[in-house]
Amino acid sequence: MTESRGGATWFKAQLMRTLRREFALVMRFDAAVPAAPIAAPSAACQLYVHVPFCESLCPFCSFHRVQYREEKSRVYFEMLRREIRLYRDRGFTFGDVYVGGGTPTVNPRELIETLRLIRSCWPIRTLSVETNPNHLRPQVLDALQGAGVNRLSVGVQSFDDTLLRAMRRYEPYGGGAQIAARLAAIRGRFPTLNVDMIFNFAAQSLQSLERDLAMVRELEVSQVSFYPLMTAASTSRRMEKQLGVAEPGREFEFYGRILERLRPDYQPSSAWCFSRAAPGVGPRRIDEYVTQQDDYVGVGSGAFSYVGGRMYSTTFSLNRYRERIEAGESGITGCKVLTLRQRMRYDFLVRLFGLSLPHAFIAAKYGRSFWWRMAPELAAMRLIGATRCDTDAIRLTERGMYCWMVLMSEFFTAVNAFRDQMRLHIRAEAPHPVGMDPGQAARGAGAK
Ligand SMILES: C[S@@+](CC[C@H](N)C(=O)[O-])C[C@H]1O[C@@H](n2cnc3c(N)ncnc32)[C@H](O)[C@@H]1O
Ligand code: SF4
Repeated sequence: MTESRGGATWFKAQLMRTLRREFALVMRFDAAVPAAPIAAPSAACQLYVHVPFCESLCPFCSFHRVQYREEKSRVYFEMLRREIRLYRDRGFTFGDVYVGGGTPTVNPRELIETLRLIRSCWPIRTLSVETNPNHLRPQVLDALQGAGVNRLSVGVQSFDDTLLRAMRRYEPYGGGAQIAARLAAIRGRFPTLNVDMIFNFAAQSLQSLERDLAMVRELEVSQVSFYPLMTAASTSRRMEKQLGVAEPGREFEFYGRILERLRPDYQPSSAWCFSRAAPGVGPRRIDEYVTQQDDYVGVGSGAFSYVGGRMYSTTFSLNRYRERIEAGESGITGCKVLTLRQRMRYDFLVRLFGLSLPHAFIAAKYGRSFWWRMAPELAAMRLIGATRCDTDAIRLTERGMYCWMVLMSEFFTAVNAFRDQMRLHIRAEAPHPVGMDPGQAARGAGAK
């Protein structure tokens, strides 16, 4: 009996390993081809705006980010606005905007001008901006509110000073008590105030995580995103040096503790994002822009788009970005055409990350063929106990939330591998006279 149960557990673990590998393949850009311009979809889609500058570069971060220089950021924002106008002139319609980074608020004046432009082009419903705790100053906050930002996302990572020092965030972005005071001071100012946290740092103990969870609850922020620490080849060495090597298997225990401590006050809106279940906290929002809508367009350097079953990437070189924009082109330099099966897998992964995949969505987009083409994945997830099929939708179970946290982190690790690859290309570029040194992106982003 015990042996057969052990065998079943082993089989499910193998199955999960295969699924992790298979789903990560969707984000492999090995076959990326030069891209034709994106054709405007008939419906409104989401706009993602990437601002790659940061005042200080965290050793664990594998996003596209470079050291902030005011002059460079001014040129960059000007290019961004030109690219936004280009999409307007090509007939695109956007309803929801997510400005991420890097740190979008490094140059508030330029950011606000860009947000105003976006609002003048389209009737925007939701406007989400990422920031860091040191920017929670009255002047910046007033400007963001004035520009109609309705979701502010603050990168906290942890309130533990020892961890913040190891992450090299204590000096530039403030200590735990200071961050908590700043967050408490802005309670209720934005319809959604999200804080980004990370769990599973090697140097993080369960007690430290408990204290972080208690602080989040005490602050009553309207939303919290708890990311599992994700790796990239370019960051792993530095991360191990600064933060140590995490013991395998802790992720499960940590994630369980997060679910346990956040509920019932906070309810999951995705596998790693939790919204405060209280009246008057604003619309229910999801952290990752990819879960909310079918198609999204990314502008700026190092941004992704997904439109009509094609995945696009803009150039990671700030110089090449400027050259392309000045030539009247978008920043897009790579494209991957997803097969029908890959598109189904992408929707399966991303929608269920947001907890449910409605049957009506499947029927409208793929018809009945979804059920037989995706039969192996559907059966595997049911067998693992990750999903259940209700009359109106496929939904994640409690166990499924953990599985999806793992699958999504694998998916983003594949994105990180692609970012590393793109940064290597930049290092091969010749120096350029325009003042946006191409090597800067590679050095700044930790590709060395
Ligand atoms: C890319 S940053 C941009 C916003 C801002 N600069 C900040 O630090 O929050 C957004 C969030 O991504 C998360 N993040 C960055 N690197 C990560 C990693 N290696 N693993 C998991 N989450 C990560 C952090 O929680 C961070 O707050
Ligand atoms: S996590 Fe650090 S390096 Fe990454 S975008 Fe935020 S501030 Fe910049």
